[in-house]
Amino acid sequence: MFRPRPDATAPTIQLEVEGRVVAVPIDTTAAAAVLLAGFDDIRESAISGARRGPYCMMGVCFDCLVEIDGVPNRQGCMVTVEAGMRIRRQRGPRALSLTEPEPNPHHEGGG
Ligand code: FES
Repeated sequence: MFRPRPDATAPTIQLEVEGRVVAVPIDTTAAAAVLLAGFDDIRESAISGARRGPYCMMGVCFDCLVEIDGVPNRQGCMVTVEAGMRIRRQRGPRALSLTEPEPNPHHEGGG
């Protein structure tokens, strides 16, 4: 199990992981917050549904994808937590939006 160092004395902030209110040290990443909340997996793969946990913790492997404040596909290891943040483990592929995409201001004709 992932635990903070016993001598850690950093101030903490509160946020939600899977609906549970947890206190984590400031400057913790979202991926570490999920582990500190007691979960050992952070997502399920899009094809097989295999359980995955954060591996590299430096933005390379993408095994830490989470939903943060309703936004899916965030790399949990690259996001620093904020008070009140809501983190959910990602299950399979993210849902596709059924709304029209915003026009691209960099393309003439709104394409
Ligand atoms: S744990 Fe590898 S990209 Fe986040």
